[in-house]
Amino acid sequence: MTTPPTTRRHFLKTVPALAASTPAFLRSEEKGDRIGLAVIGVGGMGSNHVRTLCQRKDIEFLWIIDTDSDRAAAAAKTVEEATGQKPKTGQDLRKALDDERVKACFMATPDHWHAPGAILAAQAGKHVYVEKPCSHNIREGRLMIEAAARHGVVIQVGTQSRSTAHVRSVIDRIKSGVIGEVLVAKAWNSQKRADQGVKPASTPPAALDYDLWLGPVPEVPFKATYHPAHWRWFFHFGAGDFGNDGVHDTDIARWGLGVETHPDRIQAMGDKLFFRDDQEWPDTLYCGFEYGGVEGKKRQLIYEQRIWSPYMQEGHENGCAWYGTGGMIVGGKAKGWQVYGPKNELIETIASDGVDLAGHHDNFLRAVRGEGDASTLNAGIVTNHLSSALCHLGNIAWRTGRTLHFDPAGETFVDDEAASAFLQRDYREHWAAPKAGA
Ligand SMILES: NC(=O)c1ccc[n+]([C@@H]2O[C@H](COP(=O)([O-])OP(=O)(O)OC[C@H]3O[C@@H](n4cnc5c(N)ncnc54)[C@H](O)[C@@H]3O)[C@@H](O)[C@H]2O)c1
Repeated sequence: MTTPPTTRRHFLKTVPALAASTPAFLRSEEKGDRIGLAVIGVGGMGSNHVRTLCQRKDIEFLWIIDTDSDRAAAAAKTVEEATGQKPKTGQDLRKALDDERVKACFMATPDHWHAPGAILAAQAGKHVYVEKPCSHNIREGRLMIEAAARHGVVIQVGTQSRSTAHVRSVIDRIKSGVIGEVLVAKAWNSQKRADQGVKPASTPPAALDYDLWLGPVPEVPFKATYHPAHWRWFFHFGAGDFGNDGVHDTDIARWGLGVETHPDRIQAMGDKLFFRDDQEWPDTLYCGFEYGGVEGKKRQLIYEQRIWSPYMQEGHENGCAWYGTGGMIVGGKAKGWQVYGPKNELIETIASDGVDLAGHHDNFLRAVRGEGDASTLNAGIVTNHLSSALCHLGNIAWRTGRTLHFDPAGETFVDDEAASAFLQRDYREHWAAPKAGA
C-alpha cells in the first residue's frame, strides 16, 4: 500500500514546464473549460488523487463518491479547503455516471470494483482513470478493453511509473542497447507487512453501505479485515501483494523486457510461511513467466515476493533488474538505478526523484481534453491488461500448483479446466455485473 510522494514541491519539480511558463492545466480556467470530474473511492489512494488533483486549475470537482459516507465527506472537505469548490457527495457511483457534466472519473475502489465500475463509466461515455491492477481477473481486463473501444473513451491505469521521467530514462537506456539484448527481467517485493489478525464476521461500520461495497461479487459476511484497505489480502476482492505492490514493478520489468504479449508458460511456488492470520494470498511467492517467441527468442520474467522481511532486497523494497547479454540494470522506482557492464563495471547511475503521479494524471487529462487519445496514454488499458494479467496468471499457477500453458492470443489455458476456472469469476445478480458486449 505504498502511495507515491505528491507534495506540491515534488509536483512542481516533476513538471519541468512549470519552471518556464504556466501550462494550460495550471492557468485559471473559465468554469466551462474545466473538466467535470467524479472521484469514485476516496480511501488511501483516492484521497491521494484528490489532493494531487486539487493542485490543478482545470478541474471541476462535481462528485465525490464513496460507499463509506464518512470518507466521501472527508474528501469533499479536502476539495473545498483546497479549491473552494463544493462537490456533491454520494455512496452510489450511478449518481455521478448519470450526471452529463461529468466527463471523466477517477476510480480508486478495491480491485473487485475496477472492471464493473469502469465498464459502467465507459457505457455512460465517461473517460476513466482506474487504479491498478486494472482487473480482478483476466476476463474483466479484456471486457474493459472492449468497452473502451466500443464507447469511444480512454481508460488509463494507475501505474504512475509509466509517466515518471527516470523510469522512462531507464527504459530508453535499455532500448539503446546499453546492456545488450535483454533476455531476463526480474521484479521483487521485499518488505514487512502487518499481521491481519484473525477476525470473526461482524457488523459493518454505520457509515459504510456494505452491500454497495460488495457490488456484484457473491455476498460474504463483513469482516473488519476487509474495510478499509485490507480487502486486498482476500481472494474475493484483491490479488494479494502481487496485484498490490508487485504489479507496479512487474509492469516496469515487462516494459524493459520489451514483451507486448502474454507469456505462454507460467510456474509458481508460494505459501504462507510467516503469517498465521486471516489473509488468503501467500506471503511468500515466486513466479516464472516464459514468453515463447520474441523475434525467434525466448524471454523470461521472474517475480519474487516476501512480505515478512524487515529488510530490502538489493537495496530496494520494490525493485527491478534486467539481465542483458552485455550487462545488467538493477534498481527501483523509489531510489533509482545502476547500470553495470561486464565484470560488474558501473557504467551509469540514474537517480530517482520519486514517482510522478501528477504527470500521470496530466497524461490522462490531456487525452480527456482531446489533446491525445488512447495511443498517447502512458498506461492505457491495453498495456496494463498485459501486466495485470501477469499477477493473475502467477496467482493461478500458485493456486493450481502446476505448470500452466497459456494461449496468449485466445487468453485461454491449454487443456486445463481447473486453471480455466480462474480466468473469470462468479457474480451475483446485480446491476454492475460486467457483461460481454456491454
Ligand atoms: N497507484 C498506486 O500507487 C496505488 C497505491 C495504493 C493503492 N492503489 C490502488 O487504489 C485502490 C484503492 O486502494 P486503497 O488502499 O485506497 O483502498 P481503501 O480501502 O483505503 O479505499 C477504497 C475506497 O473505495 C470505497 N469503495 C468501495 N467500493 C466502492 C464503490 N463501488 N463506489 C465508491 N466507493 C467504493 C471504499 O469505501 C473505500 O473508501 C486499489 O485498487 C489499490 O490497488 C494504488
